[in-house]
Amino acid sequence: MDRNGIYRRRNKETYYMKILAIDTSCDDTSVAISENLNIHANVSWSKLKTHNDFGGVVPSEAKRQHKEFLDPVIAEALNVAHLEINDIDTVAVTYGPGLAIALEAGIDKAKEICKTHNKKLIGVNHMIGHIYSSLARDEEGKAYSGIDDFEFPLLALTISGGHTDLYLMSGHMQFERIGGTLDDAVGEAFDKVGRMLGLGFPAGYKLESLAKSGNSSTYDFPRPMHNTNDYNWSFSGLKTAVLYQIKKIQNEYKGNPIKDDFRMKDESNNLDEETINNLAASFQEAALESLIIKLRKAISQYNPKMLIIGGGVIANQALREKLVALCENSKTPLFYPVPRWLCTDNASMIAVAANFYAKNNMYIKDIDTLDRVPGLEIS
Ligand code: KG4
Ligand code: ZN
Repeated sequence: MDRNGIYRRRNKETYYMKILAIDTSCDDTSVAISENLNIHANVSWSKLKTHNDFGGVVPSEAKRQHKEFLDPVIAEALNVAHLEINDIDTVAVTYGPGLAIALEAGIDKAKEICKTHNKKLIGVNHMIGHIYSSLARDEEGKAYSGIDDFEFPLLALTISGGHTDLYLMSGHMQFERIGGTLDDAVGEAFDKVGRMLGLGFPAGYKLESLAKSGNSSTYDFPRPMHNTNDYNWSFSGLKTAVLYQIKKIQNEYKGNPIKDDFRMKDESNNLDEETINNLAASFQEAALESLIIKLRKAISQYNPKMLIIGGGVIANQALREKLVALCENSKTPLFYPVPRWLCTDNASMIAVAANFYAKNNMYIKDIDTLDRVPGLEIS
């Protein structure tokens, strides 16, 4: 019987592993408590999601925030889960990819907890977390995406602020990268175009809401690489095409190449509301169509048992609708984390992925050896 009076059965057949997971890869200080795949608490605090001149996150500020927030966020997560630190079996922490000094804050805290309270430690790849976010379940054990388990082979697409990668998974934790972006990530393109349109950072959500009031066929933006016989993308040319279009509208484009500076000041773009909405809608249409074109190719080549999507950009409703149409057409089951908080950065996905690291006995044997890997890839 635990503190809630809930009877938790522990025997050979059913082992309930309680995980405290930490993600400090970017600007959210996030802590989750899970029991197997069920999420009991997910607490994310951030005070950095405001507009700034860099159109991005300042690492030193992110680190300062994590140091300040980690203890209270951990306390709040345990409180929400009605658990104490002694009830936890394993600590899981993101060790990459992400901002080096931000990752470090989470790793240091995870090590401290493990040493003080004698817990096991698992280091989790943030992008594997995004892929496994589809397996997160609520307190009652109902999957947020609608699936109980993956069926293989499957195709997994990660779409976030730093990544656009396509994997073929032949089993749990078995990844083969079959494609991805050659330059900017799709979320990065949303953020950079959002910057040009004078939106805050990150801009994806705001850009999507403006796009709803715009006409997506106003501007004919390119779908770079749509003809290439691979599963790669390029979003940098699309972003530049939007910039040239803005300059044209402003009557400032004189035929010379534009310096690669996307930090336009919001108050200086002089675009009216209708133009901004139309630019947002036309850009979004081109970016999302790009994703769909290559996914269609990959599905017809690999004939996967399912398509899994993870990362902040899957919060986009227009993308969800396009994916539903694509998958209905190809009769491919489609899954993604439905709640917005599970799409963007969160520690629940780290907890869920940690279950699969644990099944493969991928614990950190010597706690002191876990180090941040800012450029960590899935291998
Ligand atoms: O996964 P995530 O929270 O952080 C990273 O791991 O990068 O993804 C953040 C990205 C940002 O680029 C943000 O603009 C984008 O996801 N994003 C969206 C939407 N919501 C978040 N992009 C398009 N439409 C959205 N609704
Ligand atoms: Zn992320």
